[in-house]
Amino acid sequence: MTSTDMRTIDARRKVRDEEARAILQRNDKGAYTIPTSGLYPYQWNWDSAFAAIGFAEFDLDRAWRELETLMSGQWENGMVPHILFHVPDDGYFPNHDVWQGTGPIPSSGISQPPVAATMARMVLAKDPDFGAARMAGIYDGLVRWHRWFMDWRLDRGAVCITHPWEAGRDNAPDWDAAMAAITPEGVGEYTRRDTTHVDGSMRPTKYDYDRYIWLVQRGARLGWDEAAMLENTPFRVADPTMTFTLLRATRDLAALGRDMGRDVSELEQWIETLEAGAQTLWNPDIGCFDGRDAVGGTWANAVTNASFLCWYAGIDHPDMRTRLDEVMAQAKYGVPSLTLTDPRFDGKRYWRGPVWGVMNMMIGTGLTEMGLPQGEVVRRTTADLIADHGFAEYFDPRDGAPAGGSSFTWTAAIWLGWAHKTEGA
Ligand code: SER
Repeated sequence: MTSTDMRTIDARRKVRDEEARAILQRNDKGAYTIPTSGLYPYQWNWDSAFAAIGFAEFDLDRAWRELETLMSGQWENGMVPHILFHVPDDGYFPNHDVWQGTGPIPSSGISQPPVAATMARMVLAKDPDFGAARMAGIYDGLVRWHRWFMDWRLDRGAVCITHPWEAGRDNAPDWDAAMAAITPEGVGEYTRRDTTHVDGSMRPTKYDYDRYIWLVQRGARLGWDEAAMLENTPFRVADPTMTFTLLRATRDLAALGRDMGRDVSELEQWIETLEAGAQTLWNPDIGCFDGRDAVGGTWANAVTNASFLCWYAGIDHPDMRTRLDEVMAQAKYGVPSLTLTDPRFDGKRYWRGPVWGVMNMMIGTGLTEMGLPQGEVVRRTTADLIADHGFAEYFDPRDGAPAGGSSFTWTAAIWLGWAHKTEGA
């Protein structure tokens, strides 16, 4: 590459830096950030945690506020909801009237991958003196949230979801069997709003939505009582996203607690349980970590980007390295949400093929921490993806074509906090 080429690339990256900051500022509602206007007009749990590492690059106070606002929606039972409906918006469905969440802020009734403790630790590392009191302020809430998962969501030590939206990977193939077991009787008429913002070919289908809404109605009818929801549930899937993110976040929380002089023996116990639970997600038929239907007992038989969160959780496996090399040879930009050779692959449809910046970030971070060179390849190809194709919600892994919402908070955040940085910076 000539020095002129290098200068052109640097200039283009600088423009992307400015755009990323502008996106975070535009989506900033004061004390929380929306993922993108129109399609997602509220505070989403894991989106918000990623937003914090973006803000941490230029406004540490704002980064902490994001996490504090998220934790202010915590329910009495410890659950931190996946959506906080701070200001009503008719452009979204289903709203709080359908969810009927029971927390201090109008909310959904399910959670989302618990990445907040991990992102809080990253924000703290930027300036430990500045962040110490802020971290201490959310620590107990984070422990209570993790305890809620441990109390209510384990199957043989792996973490289960009770709704596809809880995994954050709405239409992933991991729960196809569990979804098929639902007959969405009595779900009634409803009007989707997502397809007024984004082309329907990039979103889940009506078949999916009927079941999503049926599950929401069931939870609302049961007052989101975890014990009642567990009885005769048709939908309970042990999920790699949840298991790996909770394991990773509990390791981070334990490290934070130790630094604060807290007793972390309970957290150390959880880590052991989750490490054993992660092994129950090993599907020997495909040589890969996989979704496991805890009700029906079947495997998804899917090599997804969630499978590759194992290193982020501190778990290595030689077969996973082989799977990763296979997947990365097929896709141009990082790790697709479903391997391209899977007959269920659909390059534009949400979690059935597209590549997602935040998943690449977690996978790449885990690989690099394990000393595996593929981590840097995932980071570099994610940087190329965003430099070439912008800040979309997700991208076609074959050519990088942007898909879903645009001007997306978490894509901007991981650009600033991870992707644009060169190794060692
Ligand atoms: N991802 C869901 C939606 O598209 C909710 O979390 O609305």
